[in-house]
Amino acid sequence: MAKQKTRYVCQNCGASHAKWAGRCENCGEWNTLMEQVVPAESEIKGALARGAVSGKKLNAVSIDTIETADTESRLSTSFLDFDSVLGGGILLGSVNLLAGQPGIGKSTILMQVCAAVSNSGHKVLYVSGEESASQVKMRAVRLGASSGQLHFASSTSGNDIAKTIEESDYELVIIDSIQTLSLAEISSAPGTVSQVSSCGNLIIRAAKASNTAVIIVGHVTKDGTLAGPKILEHLVDVVLNFEGDRYGGFKTIRAVKNRFGSTTEMAIFEMADKGLSEVKNPSEALLSERQNTDGSIIMATIEGARPLLVEIQALVNPTNFGYPKRTASGFDLNRLNLLVAVLEKRTKLKLQDKDIFINVVGGLRLNDSAADLAVCMAIASAAAGRKLDDKIVVFGEIGLGGEIRSVIAPDRRIAEAKKLGFKNAIAPATIKDKFVLPVKDIRAALVKYMNNK
Ligand code: TYD
Ligand code: MG
Repeated sequence: MAKQKTRYVCQNCGASHAKWAGRCENCGEWNTLMEQVVPAESEIKGALARGAVSGKKLNAVSIDTIETADTESRLSTSFLDFDSVLGGGILLGSVNLLAGQPGIGKSTILMQVCAAVSNSGHKVLYVSGEESASQVKMRAVRLGASSGQLHFASSTSGNDIAKTIEESDYELVIIDSIQTLSLAEISSAPGTVSQVSSCGNLIIRAAKASNTAVIIVGHVTKDGTLAGPKILEHLVDVVLNFEGDRYGGFKTIRAVKNRFGSTTEMAIFEMADKGLSEVKNPSEALLSERQNTDGSIIMATIEGARPLLVEIQALVNPTNFGYPKRTASGFDLNRLNLLVAVLEKRTKLKLQDKDIFINVVGGLRLNDSAADLAVCMAIASAAAGRKLDDKIVVFGEIGLGGEIRSVIAPDRRIAEAKKLGFKNAIAPATIKDKFVLPVKDIRAALVKYMNNK
């Protein structure tokens, strides 16, 4: 087959270049050139001509008469929370993308899902482009996955995989990973935009045609974006993010996009020698190793639909070289800089010559604005060497004026804190609850509650 021509199109201004460059010559933006397949000219003309004559009136029907897929056609992953993240299991005919950093456990969890689905009598195919059959077998043995219904193939050909999905009667197909696949028709290397999106398209079409559930593995880069194929996120039905610490700690799976369920659920996992297992009581586990030193604050957060108590730690040290260093693990760095600015302006803390480090314990990433108050109190606690009473949890958003603003689901946060034996919550004054020590602004919170040496 003839190789297709490609060109590099700037995603910012649309200019097309023959060669890749770091910067678009036309608009000056950096890193915006993406490889795209050039359709043959005759093909475009032919398609246009055909479009003019062959377009026909759409056959629209009343929405009441459309039949929905029944809920029976979902496959259970055997993990309760993972099922609810998916909206009740893996839907037949759906294409799911599982994205995560290398080594986080994508292949592991998918092998466990394969084992569970095949043991309940469904035909499953695991295609790996990264590992050999014996490597995958070793992992399967370790995870206790064995079933006559579970098949394995090693391939990096998008064409072959799509054909297999379409023509065999597998109900679930795992593809590990999209970055290793390529189509014979495209000359660019595996993992490039044109390869990933074309392979993705082909596989999606095959999955829909044969009503096969497909889970595609995608690697992400350090900054959390999908390596190469951001566009893939638009094509698939479900995008799952697998996050957390590679070495120990909790790992979470949440849906950032789900056409068949909500994106508020989250599953929390722990890696052991027999694979991943769900953490049943994460708050308890997260607090089990806590030492109440200065700079440590317990925050009641909401992850998806569930309340969770996490420890936020701060370290504040004098800066050795002129420019103060601020780092955050599990928390947005820009938000940290903003909060430090608010603390400097609205309280008497002097932080301009201090290095500040923030750590969210347990490998979690907080996206909750209610973390503001806890982060500020942790910084203040570390800076002043004072501790907060260890039976108090904290939550609340902080505005630029230093005021404490209300947050979502305060009652669920309070209920979780009560369950774990906490006595009070420092929280926005708008919440009417005896459990709450109401605070109006950050200064009042520090003056009133940050007093034990
Ligand atoms: P893996 O699933 O291969 O990661 P990914 O496919 O996301 O790149 O494995 C992740 C890590 O988990 C690996 O370093 C080995 C470890 N591991 C265990 O600790 N226990 C196990 O039972 C398995 C299978 C892996
Ligand atoms: Mg892997």
